[in-house]
Amino acid sequence: MKNTMKAAQINRYGGGEVVEINENAPTPTVSQGHLLIEVHAAGVNPIDWKIREGYMQQMAPLQFPVTLGGDFSGIVMDVGDGVSGFTKGDEVYGQASVLGGGSGSFAEFLSANPTAVARKSKNVSHTEAAALPLAGVSALQALTEHIQLGKGPASATASTGKQTILIHGGAGGIGSFAIQLAKHLGATVAATASADDAQYVKDLGADQVIDYKTQKFEDLLHDYDAVFDTVGGETYARSFKVLRKGGVIVSMVEQPNAELMQQYGVTAISQFTQVTTERLSKLAELVEQGVIKVRLDKTFPLEQAGAALTYLQAGHPRGKVVVEIQKS
Ligand SMILES: NC(=O)c1ccc[n+]([C@@H]2O[C@H](COP(=O)([O-])OP(=O)(O)OC[C@H]3O[C@@H](n4cnc5c(N)ncnc54)[C@H](OP(=O)(O)O)[C@@H]3O)[C@@H](O)[C@H]2O)c1
Repeated sequence: MKNTMKAAQINRYGGGEVVEINENAPTPTVSQGHLLIEVHAAGVNPIDWKIREGYMQQMAPLQFPVTLGGDFSGIVMDVGDGVSGFTKGDEVYGQASVLGGGSGSFAEFLSANPTAVARKSKNVSHTEAAALPLAGVSALQALTEHIQLGKGPASATASTGKQTILIHGGAGGIGSFAIQLAKHLGATVAATASADDAQYVKDLGADQVIDYKTQKFEDLLHDYDAVFDTVGGETYARSFKVLRKGGVIVSMVEQPNAELMQQYGVTAISQFTQVTTERLSKLAELVEQGVIKVRLDKTFPLEQAGAALTYLQAGHPRGKVVVEIQKS
């Protein structure tokens, strides 16, 4: 292995212009309690451009240069002292963001904390597997742990006897996985999306698609058991109106609003997603069973990692954006 590698890095916070392709970044070495991984593909998430812009600098100041990217799929090259459960040559996927003790995934090699790594599903490519960690685990954690879809009773007013859930941002990274999982767990699913994405969201399994630009979801849905919000803002505030008493809203972006919780008699939860080996393993199982399929919107080569971030930030992804690093 060479001492240097290619990596997409920043030396200051800013827009797309601050992303540099460093051809001579030092290759990480394996350290105690960590895995050294050859990266085949890296998934792109909104947090990646938020880190580039410095949104997280108050909470977690970074030391430049910073290698961007968190989600990845690749091959274990070396196993640090104290790490068990992995061996050289394993095909794995997970997270290695600099915010979580990793070295960043937009690079030929990375160092990862093994608590955020698991075996990749055998039936998908590295490109598909790299699209899964943060968005897939976000959907899994919200639907199975917070909302407990498939376990609780359906609203008394549900004519089908099934639990009902409204998923906002149905065409996005998290929304695309959440719709598939909610259907698998037996729920009736309504999702918001733009008219352009309506067919795509129906194909994912949504029973009802609401055009968020021309329709008011709160006029169309009532007594829902749950809302999963990946959008926030006034979409979050209006969502309380569709819930039954005792219903639950989980938001990826908003803090619980105590006043609305009390007014509507519902539970509001703010989710901080934690990508763990256990959740990744469960997700990989669902992918192997064909329950969850990865929908790729667009792929970029590592040299264009900056453009991949700008593309996602500009909005309107239909599924996931992935940076391909090693052809596999
Ligand atoms: N708390 C955490 O731990 C955590 C973890 C992961 C992600 N997040 C956050 O969760 C959010 C979603 O992430 P993502 O990866 O799913 O993002 P994404 O792939 O960019 O998807 C966002 C989706 O929302 C849609 N959308 C925008 N405005 C909408 C509206 N008013 N109503 C309905 N849909 C709307 C977009 O559709 P258009 O094409 O129509 O714009 C797009 O399909 C981001 O803000 C991210 O930072 C938080």
